[in-house]
Amino acid sequence: MVLNVPFGDMKVRYESLKKEIDGAVQRVLNSGYFILGPELEAFEKSFAEYLGVNHVVGCASGTEAIYLALAAMGVGPGDEVLVVAHTAVPTISAISMTGAEPAFVDIDPLTYVMDVSKVEEKITAKTKVIIPVHLYGQMVNMDELMELAAKHKLPVMEDVAQATGATYKGKMAGSIGEFGAFSFYPSKNLGAFGDGGAVSTNLKEAYQKLVMLRNYGQSKRYYHDSIGINSRLDEMQAAILAAQLPSVPAWNKRRREIADRYSSGLADLVIVPQEDSNSVHVYHLYVIQSNDRDGLQKYLAEKGVGTLIHYPVPAHLQKAYAYRGYKVGDLPVTELATKRILSLPMFPELTDEQVDYVIQEVRNFHLKNPGAQLVEGASKHVFPAANPVH
Ligand SMILES: Cc1ncc(COP(=O)(O)O)c(C=O)c1O
Repeated sequence: MVLNVPFGDMKVRYESLKKEIDGAVQRVLNSGYFILGPELEAFEKSFAEYLGVNHVVGCASGTEAIYLALAAMGVGPGDEVLVVAHTAVPTISAISMTGAEPAFVDIDPLTYVMDVSKVEEKITAKTKVIIPVHLYGQMVNMDELMELAAKHKLPVMEDVAQATGATYKGKMAGSIGEFGAFSFYPSKNLGAFGDGGAVSTNLKEAYQKLVMLRNYGQSKRYYHDSIGINSRLDEMQAAILAAQLPSVPAWNKRRREIADRYSSGLADLVIVPQEDSNSVHVYHLYVIQSNDRDGLQKYLAEKGVGTLIHYPVPAHLQKAYAYRGYKVGDLPVTELATKRILSLPMFPELTDEQVDYVIQEVRNFHLKNPGAQLVEGASKHVFPAANPVH
């Protein structure tokens, strides 16, 4: 029997909160107020409370959240930003939008995020900011990174696009660095029904600058103190996000349950995600490594299981960044992961039956193709006990 297990499903999200979301949309329509109004203000306040930060500034996307944070720091031409190549390319596009250049650091082979031990050797006189990307829902080793950043007097901007609700030693992602940048792309752990993003910060002056930059650089209407852009989180999306925010902890808890179920069923055949014991992974994506990733993906598609690769080509080897002169072999850990990784269906509304079906089919493929099995010493199923979920 073939069971259809899509990679994601936003319709079930809507159905599960239909009353709240319909109410939010209706409220905005009836208000006749669509840009920079009370819904945005209310969402920014509740999201700041959720994160435990002083300020949140809503904007139009995660890409622009990163851009705005960098622009607020004055990053521009001639500057370099330290970042990983194993990320969604928009992290890098946002750096390019400022006129600065990305300088790439390799990842940790177990957690897939920035290998902090490789950061210092990449710092130059041009380095202006470090961007840790909390990829797949797991945070970078923030203690070590913040210590290094302080030593070199460099600000840190967390890319939290995939990690809303993740924590490191109890602190929320986006509350540790000088800035956090969030994406509310629909499939994210907190997703809008359209595009959206936000910047978090504890810095008052930077907050005031961000508020200007997202609104044409205006300090007040028609008075432009900075060169800004148009990047606003509209009232409809703000209201929809506010309606969903109270559900995020339960959704993240369910993501972790699904991850636990997958890992228990698969750890003897493929490399399953490893959790840093200091952090709570919120599984925006559940990523395994197989020795025949492409064969597995094709097989799962035939069995009705949707999968994706996050990401097939690392940023340093993308055509758009060829001018930077990176070549194959420059980031060996990133490049090896790129060949083996596959993201299995992961969203809170998945049923146990669907998860068990995916497990069964991943097992079937690897049992029929022993050469595809990949359990290299590292693949132990480590799940820190009962961490609280945000
Ligand atoms: C790690 C990361 N950074 C940045 C972005 C960009 O966010 P958005 O699509 O909202 O512009 C994404 C989204 O794909 C992402 O996953």
